Amino acid sequence: MAVLRPILLRGIYRSIRLIGGEKLPLIAGHKLLYSCNLRCKMCPFWRREDERLLSVEEEVKMLDSLKRAGVLFMGFEGGEPLLRRDISQILMESNKRFHTSMVTNGWLLKTKIHEVKDYLNFLFVSLDGPPHIHDLIRGIPGSFSRAVEGLKEAKKHLDVAISHTIMSENLRYVEDMVTLAQKLGVGISVQVAYNYTTAEKLSPTREGLRTALQKLLELKRRGAPIIESEGYFESVLKSWYGGHGWTCKPWLTINVDPQGRVVLPCYVLNEYSGEKRVWETDLVKLWNTYPWEQFEACNKCALACYLEPSLFSWRNLSNVNERILHGMFSYIASKTGLKHMDDEPSDKPLVSARV
Ligand SMILES: C[S@@+](CC[C@H](N)C(=O)[O-])C[C@H]1O[C@@H](n2cnc3c(N)ncnc32)[C@H](O)[C@@H]1O
Ligand code: SF4
Ligand code: SF4
Repeated sequence: MAVLRPILLRGIYRSIRLIGGEKLPLIAGHKLLYSCNLRCKMCPFWRREDERLLSVEEEVKMLDSLKRAGVLFMGFEGGEPLLRRDISQILMESNKRFHTSMVTNGWLLKTKIHEVKDYLNFLFVSLDGPPHIHDLIRGIPGSFSRAVEGLKEAKKHLDVAISHTIMSENLRYVEDMVTLAQKLGVGISVQVAYNYTTAEKLSPTREGLRTALQKLLELKRRGAPIIESEGYFESVLKSWYGGHGWTCKPWLTINVDPQGRVVLPCYVLNEYSGEKRVWETDLVKLWNTYPWEQFEACNKCALACYLEPSLFSWRNLSNVNERILHGMFSYIASKTGLKHMDDEPSDKPLVSARV
């Protein structure tokens, strides 16, 4: 419980500021670098050149600025975060301040898990399909088996979930991926591939995606260990196929590029391009003067780190239960070894800062 207390107290303080009308980011995502050891078809990031990366001291400055701005959940990614030689120091600093998660392609996980396990609250390992499909998408033979080996090792030490990106190449395997998660005894988080201009355009076909999302919703309702909420799938289906959009609140999530620059207005628009450095910016002022309203009806992506927090409303009690109480109970249970009645078969925390 000791680890939770500061986050819960800051959460209460944050809620009071929100009730007062302030806009504050809740979740932060940070790319530690663009470089990567894989070559995924749909990914634009490994194709970018890295400039000088931030030092650990600069990372700490960034973390402190995010903490002051109200962030509670921190998620690291890249490129491939395990390529950073100073990854354990960075995660250790994050873990002192935030609920900390990371997403990795798993290639180095088996050998590096001992460097990072003590500083992570949650780990996502990307798997894009059965072995031949995953390796084809990821561009490097053997990447599926390395990722699964790493995941199995990581699972001995901390909470782990598969991160699965749905695209045209793997659309028909979505149910198999949920079965795989169940077999491995981990959760699964899904996202829909976005067509970046500098990567292969693998967004799934409209009708194929609809079937996959309906299947995932049905599996979720039957208790499959899918991390996204029922409301998440319902909202995507309603907005993309029913013409009833969800209101996006991109200000609830902040993304920071490998140079420490804020990515505005969100991860996907402007193709993840950073502006001012976080620690050289008055984030609270920026957050409360930025014209967020123009993105409310966007509905262009289905990124859970934006959609899930955007769905929250105190006026909707079932929503409060699903998003806050259940998530917190699951989280506390996972920290203390207690079991919450609703936790079987999925006892993963609902709120995880994957980006
Ligand atoms: C950019 S990667 C960085 C972390 C790590 N290299 C990995 O693959 O897990 C983070 C996540 O973004 C996903 N991703 C890559 N390209 C994407 C795209 N075009 N649209 C949506 N998600 C994408 C990956 O599948 C992965 O789960
Ligand atoms: S998705 Fe991850 S593993 Fe694949 S190329 Fe992009 S950064 Fe690398
Ligand atoms: S819906 Fe639009 S504004 Fe909201 S996160 Fe997605 S791309 Fe950004």
